[in-house]
Amino acid sequence: MEKFVIRGRNRLYGSVRIESAKNAVLPMMAASVLTKEKVVIENCPKISDVLSLIEILGRLGVKTEFYNENLIVDSGEITGDKIPEYLMKELRSSIFVVGALLSRTGSAEFSLPGGCNLGERPIDFHINGLKTLGYSVADDGEIIKVSGKATGSTVKLPFASVGATENIILASVTAKGATEIINAAREPEIVDLIGMLNSMGAKISGAGTGRLSIEGVERLYGTRYKPMSDRIETGTYLIAAVMTGGKVRITNADTENISFITDKFCNNTCKVDRINGIITINSDGKVRPFDFSTGPFPAFPTDMQPQSVAMLSLAGGISRVKETVFKNRFGYVESLNKMGAAIKVEGDTATCYGVRRLHGETVWAGDLRGGAGICLAALAAEGDSHVYGVEHIDRGYYAFEGKLKSLGADIERIY
Ligand code: EPZ
Repeated sequence: MEKFVIRGRNRLYGSVRIESAKNAVLPMMAASVLTKEKVVIENCPKISDVLSLIEILGRLGVKTEFYNENLIVDSGEITGDKIPEYLMKELRSSIFVVGALLSRTGSAEFSLPGGCNLGERPIDFHINGLKTLGYSVADDGEIIKVSGKATGSTVKLPFASVGATENIILASVTAKGATEIINAAREPEIVDLIGMLNSMGAKISGAGTGRLSIEGVERLYGTRYKPMSDRIETGTYLIAAVMTGGKVRITNADTENISFITDKFCNNTCKVDRINGIITINSDGKVRPFDFSTGPFPAFPTDMQPQSVAMLSLAGGISRVKETVFKNRFGYVESLNKMGAAIKVEGDTATCYGVRRLHGETVWAGDLRGGAGICLAALAAEGDSHVYGVEHIDRGYYAFEGKLKSLGADIERIY
């Protein structure tokens, strides 16, 4: 069973480069199915979610190739419409392929998607949106078959769901007529996906607002696109610098969408150079308490909640964190408390009573961002930690231990 062995208390120094955003790249890979022409996604991270989605696309006849840092996707020939159940279970973003496949071929057969264990993650918003677009849906409780041709409609989302917004965009780009999505998610990754789709010939407006208009077009064309940098990876390394009291230079950073972090706790220790995409942080190692509540953009991102709570476990005071997006995203707290944190979870709120020290322990990562939070705690803890479940971390962080090691962390992957 693979694990990280982390000896804590090394202050981090040096420079780390951020990858393209996982949650932009994955829907972009699905969007590549919309055209017979080649699509090049630049600076594509070889994280395991990308590799899993490559396998799913391959099952549909899509050819992919990494060329240097770029991923070339060739959907010239679509030879199938069935996504095998074991691959659907691999990752949540498998569901995006459905929307693109429907626009391209008019049919898709799939089962409930997998992904991080964050509590129940239904797909009712996706299915109802596809039905509103005029697709027919047959669901026998195991396999879901969707088919038809989209007609421009108005889709009202009950919650600003990222995945449902993306899937409905992909399922309506070649619809007959125009589609409106009301209460659409506004995440920067969706704005980026829309940028790529419009570069392929789509006609989508309203990006970044809660109201999107998608005018159906006949066909889409190939493109070459550089996705945005990963704001969650950026935030993760910022917190690593703060928790270890280090001085870190983060390059190729998403400086546009990072103020949710830098405003909260970097105060005067962070310099953000927006022009060159560089953030430097010179931390005094002191963690100040703060409260936050996660929510759909522009609220504090839920994907930064576990890393932030790990940091707040060492704050000089009490912090209250409310998780409003997922029903069960505090699973990692048990491991932090085993390491000496004092965090009390009641319903959707975690109260962090800051402690002076954490100590190394044998702990388990149960999901991607919870695993990152546990590793950040281990970097600051006294003594050795053995962190199991590293396969969760590999899903969304490219070369996680290599980048930390280059910053001076004492971390080894043990197979
Ligand atoms: C995307 O997941 C991201 N994943 C998640 O990142 C991120 O945490 C989430 O958006 C919120 O920002 C990718 O982009 C691949 P949602 P998604 O639909 O689309 C409920 C990470 O760590 N819901 O916005 O699954 C759902 O249960 C991952 O990088 C329904 O009830 O998120 C949840 O409570 C984790 N019915 C809430 O909405 C539906 O049909 C938000 O989910 C769909 C969602």
